[in-house]
Amino acid sequence: MMSEQNKVEVHWHEHSVVREERETMNGNKGCVIWFTGLSACGKSTIANLVDHKLNALKKHSFVLDGDNVRHGLNAGTGMLKDEHGEEFAKRFGLGFSAQDREENIRRIGAVAKLFAESGIIALTAFISPYRMDRDRVRKTLQVGDFIEVFVDAPLEVCEKRDPKGLYKKARAGELKGFTGIDDPYEAPLSPELVLDAAVKSAEQLADEVIEYISSKGKI
Ligand code: ADX
Repeated sequence: MMSEQNKVEVHWHEHSVVREERETMNGNKGCVIWFTGLSACGKSTIANLVDHKLNALKKHSFVLDGDNVRHGLNAGTGMLKDEHGEEFAKRFGLGFSAQDREENIRRIGAVAKLFAESGIIALTAFISPYRMDRDRVRKTLQVGDFIEVFVDAPLEVCEKRDPKGLYKKARAGELKGFTGIDDPYEAPLSPELVLDAAVKSAEQLADEVIEYISSKGKI
């Protein structure tokens, strides 16, 4: 049983500045553009290009990807540098087990939702391999706020690129549970957008994303 002292009383505060006011100020609608796909399929590159293009159009966007999430909010062992880093990372850091990936996506989903509600276009670039985890994030958002973008590049293409040499390590058995090799990737069944990342350039694909959100009245 929870002691009185530990009982958590949390009440939801309605924001006093309503979302529409923020969106009017920003000149764009808030939403989450959720890129999903294998490691090295081009998610981060495309998300960052979309971010630049939106900024050039004076729209408000922000990229959430491994660099600012797995090294910060979800930092695992070895990623935090201060004197409490190791201990902290062991308690709160996330790795690549199914459970940790689920929590990774849950936290990112919650943060992305806050961005959307503040009238910002959140661009998330994570493998997010499990359909159920992505669908759970979708359900937390208002209809139309979750734009699932499948960055579709076959495993052979991603493996050939292998920028971090991780596919090679996974094939050699030095890295266990690598997505696409010995851990599943579940492609979306009905994503808002499919990007043909094996054939088209990142530049072209970023334009497809901009066109899509424009057609949906987000910008
Ligand atoms: S997710 O599965 O939880 O969505 P996330 O996008 O945060 O993954 O991180 C993926 C990146 O972590 C990969 O691009 C790769 O560089 C690295 N990585 C390290 N171990 C693994 C692994 N077992 N499976 C997939 N990616 C891994």
